[in-house]
Amino acid sequence: MKFRTRLLIAFGVVVMVPLLVFGLGIRREMAKQVSAEYQRRVATLGSVINADIARENDRIDARLAALTSSLADDNSFRRWIVGGENRTYVLDYASSAMHLAGLDFLQIQDDEGRVVSSGHFRNEFGRLGPAIPAGGPALVRAAAAEGPFLALVTSDSVSAAGRRFRLLGGVVVDSSFLQRLVRDPELAVSLLLPRDSAARDSALIVGPPLPLPYVDAVDGPGTVERARIVVTRSSALLALLQRNVNLWFAAAVLVAALAALLLAGWLSTRISEPVEARIAIGDLARQVNHDVKNGLAPLRNVFRHLTQVARDTPVELPKVFAERQGTVESSISYLETLAANYAKLSPQSDRKATDVNAVVRETIGASGTVRTKLAVGLPLVSADALVLRRVIENLVSNALDSFDGKAGTVTVTTEAGKGLVRIAVHDTGRGMSKAELDRAFNDFYTTKPGGTGLGLSIVRRLVLDSNGSLQVESEPGKGSKFIVEIPVQ
Ligand SMILES: Nc1ncnc2c1ncn2[C@@H]1O[C@H](COP(=O)(O)OP(=O)(O)OP(=O)(O)O)[C@@H](O)[C@H]1O
Ligand SMILES: [Mg+2]
Repeated sequence: MKFRTRLLIAFGVVVMVPLLVFGLGIRREMAKQVSAEYQRRVATLGSVINADIARENDRIDARLAALTSSLADDNSFRRWIVGGENRTYVLDYASSAMHLAGLDFLQIQDDEGRVVSSGHFRNEFGRLGPAIPAGGPALVRAAAAEGPFLALVTSDSVSAAGRRFRLLGGVVVDSSFLQRLVRDPELAVSLLLPRDSAARDSALIVGPPLPLPYVDAVDGPGTVERARIVVTRSSALLALLQRNVNLWFAAAVLVAALAALLLAGWLSTRISEPVEARIAIGDLARQVNHDVKNGLAPLRNVFRHLTQVARDTPVELPKVFAERQGTVESSISYLETLAANYAKLSPQSDRKATDVNAVVRETIGASGTVRTKLAVGLPLVSADALVLRRVIENLVSNALDSFDGKAGTVTVTTEAGKGLVRIAVHDTGRGMSKAELDRAFNDFYTTKPGGTGLGLSIVRRLVLDSNGSLQVESEPGKGSKFIVEIPVQ
C-alpha cells in the first residue's frame, strides 16, 4: 500500500469517527428536542382547553344570572308558585328562555330537585333532575325528544315567593364542540366517559387527562362520576418529524464526509509528497555511494599497481604509468560526469547517438582480466554514454566478484541485432540458482560483505529508462551471462 493511501485511510478514520459520533449526538439531541417541543405543545393545549372550558362555564353562568334575576321578578311564575295558576306558562318558560339565552340545556328544579320546567325536554316535568355539584361545570348526559345528548352544565339558584329554585343551564358537547377546543391541527381532543374503555386509543393519548364531573341523567337523577378530556395526537406526525430529522442527519453526514474526504485527499497529497521525496532522496544517496565506489575502484587498482612497480622495478614506472594513464583519466572523467549529473539531479538522461564499443573500451580500460569481443561496424545507439557506462561497470564488477577468489574469465561482447545493439557480460564464475536469480534484482539483496545489493536494481532501471531490455542466463558452478539490448539511433 502506498504511503499516500495509508495516510488517506488514516485521515479518513480520524475524521469520520468523530464526525459520526458528533453527528449521532446531534441527531439524538434533535430527536429529543422534537419530542420535547411536542410535549410542550400538548401541555399548552391542556391549559388552553381548561381555560376554554372555564370561559364556557362563565358564559353559561352569566346567562343563568340574567335568567334568575328576570325569573325572580316574573309575576306569572310567582302566581304559579303561590296558587298553581299558569301551569302551561311555567312548563314552556324554560324552552323559550333557553332559546333566547342561546343555551342548549335549561332546567328549573324545585328545592327537592324535581323538574319544574325543562327547555330541552318538556316531558321531564316532575322527575328528579340531575344532581350536579354546585359551583363549576359538569358533564351531563341528558334525555331529549331526539335521544340523549351530552351537555356542559352549570347551575345557579333563585328565590321566588319564598321558595328556592335551581337553574341548570348548558351547552351541547358534541364533536364540533371538541373540535373547537383544539387549536393545533396535529392534535385532537376526545372525551372518555366512565364506561368507555380507556385502553381503546391510549397509545395516542398524550399529556395528562383533564377530569370533569359527569352525571348520567337519562333515566333519573344519576350520580356524580368522572369523565376525562384527553389530548390525542395524529400518530403519523411524530414519525414524520423523526423521519425528517433522520433524513437531514443522513444528508449532513454525507456532505460532511465528502468534504472531509476531499480535505483528507488534499492534505495527504500535501503531506505525502515531501515524505515520498525524502524516501526517494534516501534511495538516491545509496545510489551515489554505490556509483562513486565503482568509479574509485579502478583508480585504487592503478595506484596499487604503480606503488608496486615503483617499489620493485622503478625503471618501468614511466612505461606502466603511460599504460595505465588512460584508465586513470577515464575514471576521473566518469566521476566528474557522475558528479555533474547528480548535481543537476535531473532524472532525464542525456540520450544521443552513442558508440557502444567506445563506451565498453573506456569502461574496461586496459584491465587484463576482462576480455572483449567487439563487433565491427556496430550502429550507434540512442543512449546516454554515462548511463551505458554505469550499466557495464556494474555488470563487470559483479562478474569479477563471481569467482570467489578462483580463476576465471569475464568477457564483454557486443553485436548488432534487429534494430538494436546487444551487450553481453559473460563470466565463468559461480553462477546462480533459479532462486538466487529471482532475488538478485531486489533492492539491497547482496551476498557480499560490504555490498549494497543495489547494483543490479540500478542496472535494470537504467536499461529500462533507455528503452532497452535485460536478460540473464545463469547456471550454478558454470557462470552467468547478462545481456543488455539497446535500441539503435
Ligand atoms: N555475475 C554474477 N554471478 C553470480 N552472482 C551474481 C552475479 N551478479 C550478481 N550476483 C548476485 O546478485 C547479488 C546482487 O547483486 P547486486 O549487484 O545487486 O549487488 P552486490 O553486487 O551484492 O552489491 P554492490 O553492487 O553494491 O557491490 C550479488 O550479491 C550476488 O549474489
Ligand atoms: Mg554489484
